Amino acid sequence: MMTHVTQSSLTNLLPTRVSDDNGLAQDVMQGLSQTPKKLSSRFFYDAKGSQLFQQIMELPEYYLTKLEHQILSQQRKEILYSIDIQKPFQLVDLGAGDAYKTKLLLSELMASKADFSYVPLDISDDQLNLLLEDMHHRWPTLLVQALAAEYFQGLEWLNQNQRQRKVVLFLGSNIGNFDLPDAKNFLCALRETLNPEDAFLLGLDLRKDPEKIRRAYDDAAGVTSAFNINLLHRINKELKADFDLDQFQHFAEYDPLEGTMRSFLISKKAQEVHIGTLNQTFHFDAWEAIHTENSYKFSLKQVEEMAHSCGFKVQDVFTDKTHGFADVLLRPVSN
Ligand code: AVJ
Repeated sequence: MMTHVTQSSLTNLLPTRVSDDNGLAQDVMQGLSQTPKKLSSRFFYDAKGSQLFQQIMELPEYYLTKLEHQILSQQRKEILYSIDIQKPFQLVDLGAGDAYKTKLLLSELMASKADFSYVPLDISDDQLNLLLEDMHHRWPTLLVQALAAEYFQGLEWLNQNQRQRKVVLFLGSNIGNFDLPDAKNFLCALRETLNPEDAFLLGLDLRKDPEKIRRAYDDAAGVTSAFNINLLHRINKELKADFDLDQFQHFAEYDPLEGTMRSFLISKKAQEVHIGTLNQTFHFDAWEAIHTENSYKFSLKQVEEMAHSCGFKVQDVFTDKTHGFADVLLRPVSN
């Protein structure tokens, strides 16, 4: 059962856990048994990984957060006008993180005394706890219900909570972590949970100079490298594995034909890694790659097509001056 987590006292600030098994063991077993090897990017976000991602957002090379912040800070009045904040709603924030960008909308909503509650969903409960405390201090009267869950569990929550009007946020180009067919599946599944009055604000990184994209995922200070390698550290800790972190290196490459930014961990030598919890040893050839992440870059045309095919209409497109990033406001088409 989901319960409202209000902020009346700090001892109440516990996110609702949707599921206990985080699925890491199964993902590692499957992903390292196949060729080419892969691990799922959703496991980046343990406490340390979430913290490293905060650092990534501050890097000069990581333009995504800056562009979206610029869009939301400069156009929030127009965005909220388009959403229509006169009627009560729940603001559902998929992959809220530290809500750096959502806070721009929240402060505007609080100032205009909108009738709403905030439902941040994140895969990391450490991150959610920090967020709850932050919210409590900023806006003690704001009703917050935090969900520690994955995106598809978020859809289930939406399905089960249809009584109130929803405004769903999926910011930061988080949708880019899906491959294209899955992104479309997700969009269509989300559409199924929404009612005609609801609104969906989707943030997307757009195609641009491929060098600029690549550098955003291979920064000079090595923070993204540490973020990627932390995945192996997490597996060492949680699954009693013996990855030698110095024997793997970060590699990131952008494919301008497909718009796919791909990140890898490369084994620097032939080696065996034992994973205690799985009771398994995995062999790595010298220079063998583990594919750890896709960060897809979209064209606006593609987004429109995808939205239409899932039963959304594009109400507004908000972009920055350089057209590097877009926040697209989608509405269900009544059928
Ligand atoms: C949080 C998924 C949007 O793909 O750009 C940043 C994660 N990975 N640097 C992205 C990430 C490497 C980020 N998202």
